[in-house]
Amino acid sequence: MNTHIVWHQSTVTRGQRERQNGHKSFILWFTGLSGAGKSTLAHRVEQLLFEQGCRTYVFDGDNVRHGLCSDLGFSAEDRCENIRRIGEMSKLFVDAGVIALTAFISPFRRDRDLVRALVEPGDFVEIFCDAPLEVCEQRDVKGLYRKARAGEIPEFTGISSPYEKPLAPEITVRTGEDGLDECAGQILEYLEKNGKINLKTTR
Ligand code: ADX
Repeated sequence: MNTHIVWHQSTVTRGQRERQNGHKSFILWFTGLSGAGKSTLAHRVEQLLFEQGCRTYVFDGDNVRHGLCSDLGFSAEDRCENIRRIGEMSKLFVDAGVIALTAFISPFRRDRDLVRALVEPGDFVEIFCDAPLEVCEQRDVKGLYRKARAGEIPEFTGISSPYEKPLAPEITVRTGEDGLDECAGQILEYLEKNGKINLKTTR
C-alpha cells in the first residue's frame, strides 16, 4: 500500500447510520459447496429482512465473478483474492449501515477467518450451508459436477479441490435436508436472539 495515503474520517458514523436505519449492520457469510443452496438461501433471508424494513444487499459468487472479480479463476490463490475483495467490500457495506449477505463457496478456512478478523467481533456471522457432496452432485443445477467428473473443469470444489468445513460457524443450516423456509427461519431466529434485528411481527 502507498504510505502517503491518509485515512479520511467520515463525519457521519456507522452508529448514526444504524440508528437511522433502525437496525445493526453486519455480514451474513454463507459458505458451502456449489449447489448447497447458498445463493437461494441468502436471497430468501434478504427478502425477509427487506420486508422487515432492513437495508440489505446480496453479493453472489457467480455474479461478482462477472464484474469485480472477472479477472480471477479458481486456483487457491485466486479464490483467496476473490474472498479478500468480497471481505473488504462487505466491510464497507457494514460501515454504510447495510446488512451484507455473501454467497461464496469460500472453501478455505483461512480466507474466511481473514474476513472475520477484518471486522468488529460479532459483525461476521458465518453460516455453514451443510449439504452433503452427494446431494449437491445429485442436484447438479448448473451441470458443473458432471463436467468436473469428466475432467472438463479443473480444481472443482468437492471433486478436485478441497472444501474446509467451518469449525465453529455461528449457524449451521442443513440445506441438503431442510426446506428453504426452515433454514431461513433458523437464521432470523439467531439474529433476533442475538439482538441484531427486532422482528416487527411474530412469525
Ligand atoms: S470461491 O471458491 O472463490 O468462493 P465462488 O463462490 O466465487 O468460489 O464461485 C463459485 C461458482 O463458480 C460455483 O457456484 C460455480 O457455479 C462456478 N465455478 C466454476 N468453476 C468452478 C470451480 N473450479 N470450483 C468451484 N466452482 C466453480
